[in-house]
Order: sequence, then structure tokens, then C-alpha cells
Amino acid sequence: MALASPDKFVQWFRAAAPYIHAFRGRTFVIAFGGEAISEGRFVGINHDLNLLAALGVRLVVVHGARAQIDAKLKDLGHRTRYVQGLRVTDDVTLTVAKEASGRLRVEIEALLSMGLPGSPMAGADIRVSSGNFVTAKPIGILDGVDLQHTGEVRKIDVAAMRDRLNFGELVLLSPLGYSATGEIFNVALENIAEAAAVALGAEKLIFMMDRPGATNARGGLLRELTPLQARKLLARKDTTLDGDAKFYLPCAVRACEQGVKRAHLISRHAEGALLQELFTHQGVGTMIAPDPVEKLRDAKINDIGGILRLIEPLEADGTLVKRSRDLLEMEVGRFAVLDHDGMIIGCAALYPFSEERAAELACLVVHPEFRGRDAGERLLEAMEQRARRQRLKKLFVLTTRAEHWFVEHGFAEVSVDELPAQKRDMYNYQRRSVVLIKRL
Ligand SMILES: CC(C)(COP(=O)(O)OP(=O)(O)OC[C@H]1O[C@@H](n2cnc3c(N)ncnc32)[C@H](O)[C@@H]1OP(=O)(O)O)[C@@H](O)C(=O)NCCC(=O)NCCS
Repeated sequence: MALASPDKFVQWFRAAAPYIHAFRGRTFVIAFGGEAISEGRFVGINHDLNLLAALGVRLVVVHGARAQIDAKLKDLGHRTRYVQGLRVTDDVTLTVAKEASGRLRVEIEALLSMGLPGSPMAGADIRVSSGNFVTAKPIGILDGVDLQHTGEVRKIDVAAMRDRLNFGELVLLSPLGYSATGEIFNVALENIAEAAAVALGAEKLIFMMDRPGATNARGGLLRELTPLQARKLLARKDTTLDGDAKFYLPCAVRACEQGVKRAHLISRHAEGALLQELFTHQGVGTMIAPDPVEKLRDAKINDIGGILRLIEPLEADGTLVKRSRDLLEMEVGRFAVLDHDGMIIGCAALYPFSEERAAELACLVVHPEFRGRDAGERLLEAMEQRARRQRLKKLFVLTTRAEHWFVEHGFAEVSVDELPAQKRDMYNYQRRSVVLIKRL
């Protein structure tokens, strides 16, 4: 395959590095209906799963079988009854559900086993584990109707699933559950996906569906929702939520309310939607996140890796003075970071000179992908507040490349003599940094 532009490729691949670091060792639960298989979309999804597995993501895949069950029941001329959107699974339907799930599982396992040289699956080594991880119970009687073999999750065997994931295996779950009495229940895929994600404390629960995501009343795609906003959307009488989103969004919300960090609703039709949603900051679908995606907070010792990744390219091109990991470990308390979904996308540090009632603002950096969205300004404001809390009167900065940015943010150039004595003595005349001061 010819790449449109090698430069773009290099740029894109480098930009993906922080996500790769952030995702390694995390658990993602990825769920899709049986249509993904019948429409031939699974080959593309499979390539993306393979890539995620290669990057060290722990994968749980949940497939549905509604489309296959419907088609078979139609062939048999068997009528299906629904109560509150749930299928009544009678004996015939259960037999069809078992057949459909068995067939789909085998087909998915076969596709995950592909490894043709020259294909995106070359060298793939995905071992699939499927089994009795889901215990179900009958839903019982709804609106006076017995749902028979339609069940819901009672328990997930987390320990067994963790064992498989620890061995580097992909866990594949079908929309069936077993009871302690040996019965089989037909369970909605979204119920299984939600329960598995919550039980495993998954980083992400991803639903691949028929639409690009959740939409507002005008049909526009909603890119980010808190669980509260999503609940309001679900409660609206004029909601435009239809298709899969009606079933998946409530599960995504409940999962986030029970500890899953992020839930995503994305299209199963768009090629590479999974990668675009996961490896670009704007994404392509709807993300449900319990807390604001971007947080400005004090840096912790665990952030040092992220800070280093952010500042090293700027140290290499001379924009910043080199700081070693040891130095950063000692000085981490002076840093604030901007955390975007677990990824450090900005940092700044404050070095007070109490005698002169001044402080140096240093190491103000925003990840290139996130520049021009006021992140720099937010970090500067946070550092100014910190300095004010310490009753300091002026903030100075030494810069070789961002003079205009600081001037536009209230700084003015001064001579080196205005620096606190200790800093002045260490001033590096070769770097010829511009000294700027802002009075607080
Ligand atoms: C300087 C920096 C922190 C700004 O971050 P940011 O999040 O893009 O800043 P904001 O979104 O608040 O401001 C963006 C505006 O500043 C401008 N800007 C960004 N860097 C600039 C620079 N070096 N010189 C002049 N203007 C700059 C942008 O063009 C944009 O202007 P616009 O809104 O008119 O288009 C970021 O560019 C950076 O990390 N630079 C490299 C590190 C550095 O030089 N740090 C300073 C020394 S400690």
C-alpha cells in the first residue's frame, strides 16, 4: 500500500507514541453485534485488534448474534416476541441462539488466527480464550410475560479472565451465560460487555455500532458526554437516539459510573474507526468520561516519564535546558501537569526566590498536538496563582523561542541584571536567553 506522504506518516506515528505508552497493559472491552461479521467488517476490526494486542493492550471481545438469530428465525417462520426491547427466548429461539453463537465464535476465532505474510496479520500470535466466564440468571417475568431463556449476567469469573489475560490471551465472550443448574441463557451482548468491563475495572469499554455515535436533538454527533449528560439525553422525549445507541449508551453510562474510565460508541462501518478513536485526540465517535478529560494538577512522581517524553524533543533542539531524570525526581514538586486522559500533554514549573519575592517560571511546554487551544495559558495561570499564594510579586522567565508568546501574556523584556542574584550568577551568556518579567 502506497502512503500518501511519508512526512505525514512519520508525524502521525510519532504523535501516537503517548497513546501507546498510556495503553500498554490496560484492559479494553470491545463489543459489536453479529452484523459486524455478516457485513464482512470483522476483517478490518481484526487488523486493529491485532495491532492493539501487539501494543500490549489486554483485550476482551464480546460479540452479539441478534442479526443471525433473526435471520434464522425468519427462515424457520418462527415469530419472535419482544417485551421492553428484550427478546422472549423460547426453546426454538434458544436452539437458534446456541447455533448462531457457536458459529460466530468459530468464525471469529478463525479470523483471529490469520497470519498471512504480507497482510496486516503477518506474524500475529493471538491466542483466543473462550469459556464459561459468564454466569447468568433468568430475567423472569416482565409485564406479565415470561422471558423464558432470556437471561442477564449474575456474575463474571474475573479471576479466570484475568488469568487468561495475564497469559497474553484474548478473551472472547459470546452472548450466552450459564447457570449453576447447567441451564443456558440468551444474554444481550451489551449486558455482558458492561458487566465484564466493570468486573475487570477496564480502562475502556468500546461499543462498535450502526451509527457514528450518540447524537443531539438536531442529529449532530456528540463527541464527549459525562454520565450525567448522557442520562439527560436518554431521558429526553424528543431523543434522536436510535438503533444500537439506545441499547449501548445506558450500559456505557452505568459502566462509567461503576469505575470504567472511558466508554466509547463508534461506528462499525468506518474503516479503522477503532484506531482513529483511540489514537487521535479528537476521536471519531462519542466518548463517555466520568470526569473532565483534561485536568490541570500538581505533578506526581509517576508523571516523570510523561514529563520527560514531553520535554526531551525540546531539549534535543535546544529550546529547553537539559534536565535529568534524577533532577526531575527531586524537583517534581515544583511542576504542574496537564493530564489529558492519562497522557501528560503539558507541564510547567515554578522555582521561587523568596528573598527577592520572585519566582522563575520554567519548562512551560505543551505537546505539539495540543497547542493553540489555551493549554499554555492555563498552565501559566496556574503558575501565577501558585506564585501569588506564596505572596511573590514577580514572575520571570528565560526563553529563546517563545518571547512573543510571553509578551502577549503580560511579560516584558528586562536586562539580566533584574534577575535574582543567584539566578543572575548562573545566567548562561551563550544561550542568550531573553529575560522577561511579569509583575503579579
Ligand atoms: C509556548 C507554548 C507553551 C504555548 O502553548 P499553547 O498551548 O500553544 O498556547 P496557547 O494556546 O495558550 O496560545 C497559542 C497562541 O500562541 C502562539 N504561539 C505559540 N507559540 C509561540 C511562540 N513560540 N512564539 C509566539 N507565539 C506563539 C500561537 O500561534 C497561538 O496564537 P494564535 O492564538 O494567535 O493562533 C508552546 O508553544 C510550547 O510548548 N512551546 C515550546 C516550549 C517553549 O518554548 N516554552 C517556553 C520556554 S519555558
